[in-house]
Amino acid sequence: MLVKKILKVKNLKFTPFIFLSACIENAPLDSLSPEGPYARSIDELFWITFWIAVGVFVIVQGALLLSVFVFKEKPESPEPKQIHGNTKLEILWTVIPVLILAAIAVPTVQTIFDLAREPEDALKIEVIGHQWWFEYKYPDYGITTANVLVIPADKPVRLEMWSNDVLHNYWVPKLNGKRYLVPGQTTYLNLHADSPDEFWAQCGEYCGLSHSKMRGRVLSLSQKDFDSWVENEQKNATAFSNEDLSLAAEGQQVYLNAGCTQCHVVNGVWDVQGDRIAPNLTHFAVRNVFAGAALENNRENLTRWLANPAEIKPGTFMPNLELTESEINALIAYLETLK
Ligand code: CUA
Repeated sequence: MLVKKILKVKNLKFTPFIFLSACIENAPLDSLSPEGPYARSIDELFWITFWIAVGVFVIVQGALLLSVFVFKEKPESPEPKQIHGNTKLEILWTVIPVLILAAIAVPTVQTIFDLAREPEDALKIEVIGHQWWFEYKYPDYGITTANVLVIPADKPVRLEMWSNDVLHNYWVPKLNGKRYLVPGQTTYLNLHADSPDEFWAQCGEYCGLSHSKMRGRVLSLSQKDFDSWVENEQKNATAFSNEDLSLAAEGQQVYLNAGCTQCHVVNGVWDVQGDRIAPNLTHFAVRNVFAGAALENNRENLTRWLANPAEIKPGTFMPNLELTESEINALIAYLETLK
């Protein structure tokens, strides 16, 4: 009754469902279903701690209920024995929690060190946080990409991370815990996926208006698929000639002239030295998501995005370029060629 009243007053019709959302199975950001050794060691530590906490809860609440019901005050009962200032008991209930915390500290410290150790033969990838998307660089291969982190399956990956603007936090719940991306400081995180699969990532630190839209995907591929992905990413885009009358060629002109090149690079068509503040588009069509991985990469979403980026990601640095419908169609046709 009271719950119903509160829900009505606050107009929180969906609140019970929000609580239930924690119980969804196979949720993409579920940190309790690890799919790699790092996430698994965190999960094991969680369950050890959880069951110790359950034991403490049952004993303490049991003792409380026992005192409430068995030792309830009755009219004829005498004053119970007073134990205030009992040194032996004081020591006992100080020592027991100390021992419990010490028991939890051993596997905790062990796990922290295991997670921090740099794995041998790990592939190094740089992760750079931007408002509001993640950029990835593969220094060994000369690749720059965004939103989708592609890694080889069943191999450790070492992320070297920093931020281009404010604090962000890199989190792939099924592969490891969170780690901050700090401006001017490098932090490290290891990832290791058991098998080829796709995992969801999310920025774990409030970083401005579109923090909730700062998402990511991690794609783990078999070594063979990963190698061919690398080979493809290293290629430049093919530039359309000025004589080409196709819609995609027209789109390339829009890309070059409407203002996109201020922030976006397409290798082989418009590469400028130095970093740009927006995702590298050279292999845009290979990525299944865009706009900070907030949108699936398809025509409908691209149309919405190009017409008004801020409608999808409030505060985004991508301006509304006031593109006409035909410019948008041409741009999309061009983006589809960037494979
Ligand atoms: Cu970046 Cu929240």
